[in-house]
Amino acid sequence: MLQQRPDVRRAVEADRVHKSVYTDPAIFDLEMERIFERVWIYCGHESQVRKPGDYYTLQIGRQPMIMVRGAEGEVNVLYNRCPHRGTMLVGDRQGSTGEFFRCSYHAWTFHTDGKLKNIPMMESGYEGTRWTRENPDCNVKRAARVENYRGFVFASLAADGPTLQEYLGPAKIAFDDMCDRAPAGEVEIVPNCFRVIQNSNWKIFLENQLDALHPSVTHQSTGRAAHEVELDIAKKTGHAPLSYHMLSAFATVTIDQWDNFQTLNYPHGHCILTGYMGLRPQDRDTLDYERVLAKAYGKQRKEEILSTNIHHVLLYPGLSVQSPLQQLRAVRPLGVDKTLTEIWHFRLKGAPEPIYRRALAYYNLVNSPSTMINADDLENFWKCQQGLTADGGEWVSFHRHYGHDIARDGMVETAPGMGTSEAPMRNQMKAWAEFMDKA
Ligand code: FES
Repeated sequence: MLQQRPDVRRAVEADRVHKSVYTDPAIFDLEMERIFERVWIYCGHESQVRKPGDYYTLQIGRQPMIMVRGAEGEVNVLYNRCPHRGTMLVGDRQGSTGEFFRCSYHAWTFHTDGKLKNIPMMESGYEGTRWTRENPDCNVKRAARVENYRGFVFASLAADGPTLQEYLGPAKIAFDDMCDRAPAGEVEIVPNCFRVIQNSNWKIFLENQLDALHPSVTHQSTGRAAHEVELDIAKKTGHAPLSYHMLSAFATVTIDQWDNFQTLNYPHGHCILTGYMGLRPQDRDTLDYERVLAKAYGKQRKEEILSTNIHHVLLYPGLSVQSPLQQLRAVRPLGVDKTLTEIWHFRLKGAPEPIYRRALAYYNLVNSPSTMINADDLENFWKCQQGLTADGGEWVSFHRHYGHDIARDGMVETAPGMGTSEAPMRNQMKAWAEFMDKA
C-alpha cells in the first residue's frame, strides 16, 4: 500500500513551525530524501585521507559512504556497498584499504575510484549473463558529485544542482577565515573527534548553534564557576589563563550584550553569527603568532585576517563551523529523535604550537565528556524533544524580533541591537520548506 506523503507546506509559517517537523518519522524520511540526499554534505577534510587507499566512512542521509584517497591523489566518495550482494565494503570507521577494496564476502575487488578490478573465476560462471566487465553496475557506485573547497570535501548524491561554491555562497567564509589564519594558508585535521549522540531531532541542534539567547541562561552556572576561579587566579598571580575567560564569558556577557551581536542569514539556510569572543589578547603567545602571520602575509593583510568578525557559521543542513577557534561540528541525523554530531578541530599550518594548544583547550572546554557546556545543551535538546512529543501545544515559536529583519542584497540581517533575534531559525525553516517542497 502506498504511504501518504506528509503535507509539509502547512507545517511551516513565517514565524512558527508545527511540532510534527521534529517528531514525525515520515517527515524525517522525506528530509533525508529531499535535503540530505540532494544538497552538498560535508564528508571530511582531505587530511583525514592522506595516502592512496586511506578511507573514512560516514553517513549521507541514510546512505553509508566511504571517502577514500584514490591512486591518482584525488578524493573519491563511494557508496559503501558491494555491487554483488550488497555487503558493506568496509566495516571500520577509518583505515587504509591499500591499492584496492576487497569484499569480505566473495572476494570481488574494486579500485579506489570504484571500478571493478576482479571477480574470482569470472571466466567460468558468468558467460552468457549480463554481468560483464562493461556493465557499469559491476562498479561501486560513486556519489554523483564531489568537490573540495580549501581542503574541505563535500559530496552531493544528486547529479544536478548548484556547484559547491554556488551553494555555500558567502558562508564559505567559514573555510576562508579558518585557513587564512594559518601562516601556510591551510589547516590539517587533528585525527580524533568527539562523537556525541543526542536524543533529539537534528534541527534542534542547528537552531541552538546560532541561538544567542541561550548562553547566558543555559551556561550561566558553568560560566560563573569559571569566573570565580579566573578572578582568584588573577588575584594571586596577576594573570589568569585565557581558557578560564573562554568559559567565564558565558556568564559575564549579558543577554543585552549578546543583542549587540548580529546574524546574517543567507539563501539555503546558511547563517553567520558575528561578534568575536575577544581572543586577540596581547599576551606573548598571541604576539608571537601575529609576527609569524605578518611575515607570511604582510602587516596589512594580517590585520584584515585577524579582524574578521565571525563567531560561528552555520552551513545548512549539516555543518557548524567556529573558524576563529578552528573547530567544526558535522551533523549526521540517525532518526527523527536521534542525531550524531562529529566534533573536529584543526591545526593552523605554520602557526606556533601555543596557538594550537589554545584551540585544543577551547575544544575540550566546550565539547569533552567532562565539560558541563555540552552536557547542559544535551539536556536541553532531550527536554525539547520530549516536550514536543506531548499534547501541550501544536506550534514552536520563532517570534523574537519578528518583523524587524532587514532584507538586503539577497540576504536578511538582524537589525542593530537585535542579535538575539530568532531570524536564523526562521531562515533555516524557510530553506527547509523550499527543499521539502521539491518533489
Ligand atoms: Fe561482495 Fe559477494 S557480496 S563479493
